[in-house]
Amino acid sequence: MAKLDLHHIQKQFGSTRVLQDISLSVSDGAFIVLLGPSGCGKSTLLRIIAGLDVQTAGSVLIDGKPIDHVAPRDRDMAMVFQQYALYPHLTVRENLAFGLTMRKEPATVIQTRIKEAVDLLEIHPLLDRLPKELSGGQRQRVAMGRAIVRKPKLFLFDEPLSNLDARLRGTMRIELQKLHKRLGITMVYVTHDQIEAMTLGETIVIMDHGNILQVGSSEEIYRQPNTPFVAGFIGHPPMNLLEGNVTTDQQTCYFHTGNLRITLPIHSCPPTLTSAVLGIRPEDIHLTSSETPEITISGTVECIENLGADLFMYVLAQEQRIVLRTAPGQHKQPGEAITIHVPRNRLHLFIDGQRIERNQTP
Ligand SMILES: Nc1ncnc2c1ncn2[C@@H]1O[C@H](COP(=O)(O)OP(=O)(O)O)[C@@H](O)[C@H]1O
Ligand SMILES: [Mg+2]
Repeated sequence: MAKLDLHHIQKQFGSTRVLQDISLSVSDGAFIVLLGPSGCGKSTLLRIIAGLDVQTAGSVLIDGKPIDHVAPRDRDMAMVFQQYALYPHLTVRENLAFGLTMRKEPATVIQTRIKEAVDLLEIHPLLDRLPKELSGGQRQRVAMGRAIVRKPKLFLFDEPLSNLDARLRGTMRIELQKLHKRLGITMVYVTHDQIEAMTLGETIVIMDHGNILQVGSSEEIYRQPNTPFVAGFIGHPPMNLLEGNVTTDQQTCYFHTGNLRITLPIHSCPPTLTSAVLGIRPEDIHLTSSETPEITISGTVECIENLGADLFMYVLAQEQRIVLRTAPGQHKQPGEAITIHVPRNRLHLFIDGQRIERNQTP
């Protein structure tokens, strides 16, 4: 097991800087997920940790010691990629043994390690098959087995489930969590899929354009996103992000966009007209009034999507499209006038790209 620290990692390809200044601490035995859109630098960061790529500046530390000059094969890390790259002419058993044989491990050690991995992943029936005789999910399991037999200090996963269908991804997510609990090995997992990140990670690291925007539990990232990007990236349907201005008028703070005016909790108001983003989660919008202090917005139902367990309703309010998420059984029709209600303590306000907490005056 190992503690991983990244100190001010930068990476430049030619004149393009793809990692800006990444610092991150991953505690021993943690399961951390790097989440961000395609191209934001996740794989590059993982490859730098593994030693497959060299950073332009900064340092990678394991258990407090820099490992920047340690060759990849001596870093004691195992990486699982989206392309599992099993040796096509070797059986599952031979694929599992390959790395250990190359390291000249004794045959008894190899046998024991394979048995442990096979038990853990429940792949006994596959041992004598060739990769072409396996399904996508089975291949991925073997690829994971190949990483497990090495008993690494650190597991690195780069979108390992992307090639699987949705159902299998669901199963593998559960298996990965179990695997982490049983092995207790530090894991760094990269994905662009928010569902994977929210379900797998004890800690989620949100990246965009080579920067870390926020680090937190799934609950923290969901409830208190730092920036409009994080707010819009997590959650389905995404958070409604209304762009407008905030102003004060005799002690009352308002958010304006077009003809829409929303009264905000007073203590979140800047002294002068300032551009701002108001965020509202679709599930925080209700069709009936509640006891809590709330805002109300009038609009027209534009369209309705019934997904069985959920119903998404798109409402046009003063040229702003607002989506709300509710339970099916609402008898609203497109074109119908509607009033929506949002508890005030569920509003997210962002000024200059940063979250304003309700007890904070900008
Ligand atoms: N070897 C390379 N040479 C030049 N640019 C690269 C190279 N590898 C990655 N990049 C660029 O770096 C950025 C980050 O890539 P990557 O780390 O693969 O992103 P992600 O894994 O988040 O999708 C992208 O813009 C990509 O085009
Ligand atoms: Mg990638």
